[in-house]
Amino acid sequence: MTLREQLLHLFKESGNQFLSGEEVSKKLGVSRTAVWKHIEELREEGYIFEAVRRSGYRLVTTPDVIIAEEISLGLETKELGQKIYYYASVDSTNNKCQELAKNGAPHGTLVVAEEQVGGKGRLGRVWFSPKGKNIFMSFILRPNLEIQRCPQLTLLSAVSIVEVIREYYGIDASIKWPNDVLIKGKKICGILTELNAEADRINWVIIGIGINVNIDEKDLPPEVLEVATSLRMEKGEKLLRVPLIQQILKRFEELYDLYLAEGFLPIKGRWEKQAITIGKKVTIRTLQGSFTGIAEGIDETGVLLVRKEDGTIQQVYSADVEIHP
Ligand code: BTN
Repeated sequence: MTLREQLLHLFKESGNQFLSGEEVSKKLGVSRTAVWKHIEELREEGYIFEAVRRSGYRLVTTPDVIIAEEISLGLETKELGQKIYYYASVDSTNNKCQELAKNGAPHGTLVVAEEQVGGKGRLGRVWFSPKGKNIFMSFILRPNLEIQRCPQLTLLSAVSIVEVIREYYGIDASIKWPNDVLIKGKKICGILTELNAEADRINWVIIGIGINVNIDEKDLPPEVLEVATSLRMEKGEKLLRVPLIQQILKRFEELYDLYLAEGFLPIKGRWEKQAITIGKKVTIRTLQGSFTGIAEGIDETGVLLVRKEDGTIQQVYSADVEIHP
């Protein structure tokens, strides 16, 4: 645990009790100046400490910040998020992860940011990434898998997010192939998977997740409002982002372990349970052109199978899918 983590832990455990600077410095084995410096830093992040002469300090308010210390406290994973990099602002958490992975960062390394100035969406799009309200996170996986299996990890990510949103927040979310998470037909989450591989070997995979948590109508540009929503807009109240991040990491890790042990089949079943695409009339748009058909299901590798009007089945690897009402 870092010093800041230990400090926060101590104040959170003490609840309403005041802790003197001397007590804290003794418990943590650092100088009183160091304690004071960290308290000042935390105040700048939005933490409110009450200071009373002769009694010391107590933590009055923890802000909804997604700094590494908050995510670590109470995170129940073995590997995912055991190393966390937090940025107040970053171009893209996926890009940061790429840099870290190139420099040898281990499996499970997590990057989170309050804001992205170059947020990336699928198919070269921009991901709307305003400050302080949503979740932008990416993590590094170093799986020992064949390259073709990489898309399965994207589907696995979508399953973990939808399951958490349904179970913990009681919101009726579903998946649109391959990995858009929708509520009442509007998008609340996007996943961007990036792969670095050699001829037949995966070096690393980056899973980048963007979730609209606390933005509301007035934060969204009109063209985004037409197609997007947020957990706050659906639930009618603000949500804390840290527990959501922790639950998603935990669920992802559980599903990832299941996937490594038993293969894609159990994940496929859970994906299908949450998917709205299957059985619907869809229009598929790819760089090669568009066509309409019925989405029949996904195959063992995660590829979408669409029955075209002439009855033949077309495999779809990457596309924009429009679901007809
Ligand atoms: C999509 O187009 O649906 C995928 C959007 C993925 C957005 C997330 S936000 C965190 C991570 N960093 C990025 O630049 N993109 C992903």
